[in-house]
Amino acid sequence: MLRLQNVVKTYGGKSAVTALAGIDLTVTGGEMVAIMGPSGSGKSTLLNLLGGLDVPTSGSILVAGTDLADKGEKERSMFRRTTISYIFQAYHLMPTLKVSQNVALPLHLAGESSAEVSRRVAQALKDVGLEGRSSHLPDELSGGERQRVAIARALVTGAPLLLADEPTGNLDTARGEEILNLLRAIHRERGTTIAMVTHDHHAASACDRLIRLRDGRVEGDGPVAGGGR
Ligand SMILES: Nc1ncnc2c1ncn2[C@@H]1O[C@H](COP(=O)(O)OP(=O)(O)O)[C@@H](O)[C@H]1O
Ligand SMILES: [Mg+2]
Repeated sequence: MLRLQNVVKTYGGKSAVTALAGIDLTVTGGEMVAIMGPSGSGKSTLLNLLGGLDVPTSGSILVAGTDLADKGEKERSMFRRTTISYIFQAYHLMPTLKVSQNVALPLHLAGESSAEVSRRVAQALKDVGLEGRSSHLPDELSGGERQRVAIARALVTGAPLLLADEPTGNLDTARGEEILNLLRAIHRERGTTIAMVTHDHHAASACDRLIRLRDGRVEGDGPVAGGGR
């Protein structure tokens, strides 16, 4: 699903920052991978490159067989719509749109018919246990519920790759656990490949494999002790 070869990412001009200093990595379809590392080690940069939100300075990134490094912005955005979905620590919902409208957004962008949109939105909300909340605004929901809306929005396109940047970072332990269980269920039932950045060892232990970054390099890579619960 993911193959990175000698991926380097530097930011800026004169006083350039090397965010990634040569990453080699392969993630097989259907894996659930945690990415950990100190602040500034390159986790978000890596996730943004995997998601085609940015391009590497050098090296190659294959996502589902497509090389993102040599694609333009427009092509990457087309590719993202069908293949990649994202969830973030801060949910990133549109505050003026109802829950159902938030979940429907990626389908509207993909040009789906309104009947198909309604059907798939209803199913996605059911899958995350929020079928009763479709007419609410994000403000009217708890943090855990908002993250479940974001997960429904991620699920609704059927993308095979889900990228998550600190998805439990704003939640208390119990709510975080619900989100991890949901991600785990999605992974198990749909075979979705999941890459999740986290600070939290407990969150990492929901995954099968742990990749540790330090100073823009892979410092460790292996199975999670007691992982894949
Ligand atoms: N847009 C940017 N411009 C300049 N430097 C950046 C930018 N994004 C990240 N960096 C730098 O790259 C390094 C890695 O950042 P990041 O990937 O955000 O780390 P992490 O998510 O692990 O905390 C840091 O030194 C950070 O300051
Ligand atoms: Mg980060």
